[in-house]
Amino acid sequence: MTTKVTVRTIAQMKNRGEKITMATAYDFAAARVVDEAGIDTILVGDSLGMVVLGYENTLPVTIEDMIHHGKAVVRGTKRAMVIIDMPFLTYQVSPEEALRNAGRIIQETGATAVKLEGGVEIADTVKKIVGAGIPVFGHIGLTPQAVGQMGGFVVQGRDEKVAAQLVEDALALQEAGACAVVLEGIPWQLGKFITEKLALPTIGIGAGVHCDGQVLVYHDILGLQTDLRPKFVKSFGQFYQLMVEAMRNYAAEVKAATFPAPEHTFTMDETIMAKIQEKY
Ligand code: KIV
Repeated sequence: MTTKVTVRTIAQMKNRGEKITMATAYDFAAARVVDEAGIDTILVGDSLGMVVLGYENTLPVTIEDMIHHGKAVVRGTKRAMVIIDMPFLTYQVSPEEALRNAGRIIQETGATAVKLEGGVEIADTVKKIVGAGIPVFGHIGLTPQAVGQMGGFVVQGRDEKVAAQLVEDALALQEAGACAVVLEGIPWQLGKFITEKLALPTIGIGAGVHCDGQVLVYHDILGLQTDLRPKFVKSFGQFYQLMVEAMRNYAAEVKAATFPAPEHTFTMDETIMAKIQEKY
């Protein structure tokens, strides 16, 4: 029987210095690939809005979108822990509303945890959700839901004021009971400092190699996305061109009537066919 990854598993991994792996997935088929590869945790990120739904940023993503895709990912996962992003405006209005929405996400999808963007300002909300028994991942640094406020997808924490604020944010999330924190788009020195300062695991994306784990977007890992390429992205395969090529080959064979070939074709008894022809 497969042993599921839990919040205890990732806490133990931090304690023994074993790196934690995380990749995003947004549907059943992708979840199977990620899970079979032995990735420890799967994030159903609201990056869904950009890489799957074609929006310019993550702001239009709804709780229904996250639940719909979250359910599919959970169905495709055997071992990995599944974490689902709470989308924009589902947790900022009040801790009570956030708890109701977090509860809906967990209850309707079967995922283990939710992830929220923000630090000190959402500490009470994190406390409320954790108090109801739902594990929470924090997310600080470059937080895509605040793209307007940040003036774009830009690295955070290069100056003293913002760097100090990010340390405060990380400590506030730990104090509020978060089980891990995603650090996105910050200098590696700050990623290392926060990782060493916190007892809970940090998962980095563009935050350097010293984080307790790393996360990348599914489409970036596989080279399925050709337009948006931040500095921190590394592709471990180049599947976009291969997929286009496969589609071209399929279309060419249909046009040339070489597909379907006899081996892809069903046959029937000739005498039955003869009777049908006679009748009609
Ligand atoms: O939405 C997302 O995919 C994320 C990760 C990039 C951390 O938040």
